[in-house]
Amino acid sequence: MRILHFQLNGDDAEVAAPDHWTLLEVVRYRAGLTGSKQGCDKGDCGACTVHVDGRSVLSCLTLAADIDGRQVTTIEGLSNVDGLDVVQDCFDGAGALQCGFCQPGMMMAARQLVTENPEATREEIKEALASNLCRCTGYTKIYQAVEEACRRQRQCTTERAGGAP
Ligand code: FES
Ligand code: FES
Repeated sequence: MRILHFQLNGDDAEVAAPDHWTLLEVVRYRAGLTGSKQGCDKGDCGACTVHVDGRSVLSCLTLAADIDGRQVTTIEGLSNVDGLDVVQDCFDGAGALQCGFCQPGMMMAARQLVTENPEATREEIKEALASNLCRCTGYTKIYQAVEEACRRQRQCTTERAGGAP
């Protein structure tokens, strides 16, 4: 057992967890944040995707001990005081979900892409989300949602820079 100190969705967290536990177990069974899904539990489905220091990781393959002192963001931390994150809003708008099981991980992976490459093409979006499996949607609406999120991210950047909306 060890005591972990890290930032969880912007707040200080102190959690006791067995040495062999994963980040996914800490998030779900210590912090009580069940948005990150325990799908395959072996790195195949992407349903457990969270951000560590702003980068997507598979939390089922991340040892909890490795997150000591780092910043963890789960789907519960993606929205902010202004409301839904643009990625969440675009998934909602596009109707890009059915059962919803894949969505938390899918949106966390999409958030990283939209942040890092808002010019992403459809092929780049497919590649970025290739590790996140969805058994329901057929992916088309997910890709459309991410394209719209990229478009809104570019618009936002242009407006902040004082250019034409
Ligand atoms: S639960 Fe982590 S990749 Fe499937
Ligand atoms: S909406 Fe059901 S797995 Fe993606």
